[in-house]
Amino acid sequence: EVIFGLLLVAAYLLGSVSSAIIVCRIMGLGDPREAGSGNPGATNVLRIGGEKGKRAAGITLAGDMLKGVVPVLLAHALGFEPLWVILVGVAAFLGHLYPVFFQFKGGKGVATFIGVMLAVHFWAGLLVAATWLFIAKGLKISSLSALIASLLAPVYLYFLTGELSWVWLTLAMTLLLFWRHRSNIGRLVRGEETFKRSP
Ligand code: G3P
Repeated sequence: EVIFGLLLVAAYLLGSVSSAIIVCRIMGLGDPREAGSGNPGATNVLRIGGEKGKRAAGITLAGDMLKGVVPVLLAHALGFEPLWVILVGVAAFLGHLYPVFFQFKGGKGVATFIGVMLAVHFWAGLLVAATWLFIAKGLKISSLSALIASLLAPVYLYFLTGELSWVWLTLAMTLLLFWRHRSNIGRLVRGEETFKRSP
């Protein structure tokens, strides 16, 4: 249990490290919290990054996904039970949403959520990532693709694993992800959600 507690704290701290803020600072792109949608996430880095946008967003996406992947893989490797494995993922996800290093004001959680899914159950995670990419490419609305992919995640997990602790805790993360997207949802409902926008 001590090791589990330590891993939980480590996952939260790792989740709290914002890839978007670090990448933007290093690449001279300013502060993603003060431009575009104001969200420290890959979508907004792409939005505000100009010609460096694609590269910067790619690195941000990879970094935020790894925050979910690494602690969960470690939990698997340590032989933890399914419930404990996903709790470690939830800790990383919460770190990204409510980071201790940035006055608890974090991102919307999409990349870290997908990272957690990939590490919890690779095939379910791959389906979530594919759903997200497919809809994002098709509709060109990042938020909507994230909302749909995250809503399907517990369904994929249910049918591929039947592990109820994974289904319920993923659903809890999905609800939090929806909560963090509430301004996007408002714009989607009004038909105003676009890629270009100011905070
Ligand atoms: O990655 C978060 C995405 O779903 C929406 O981001 O910046 O368009 O609000 P944004």
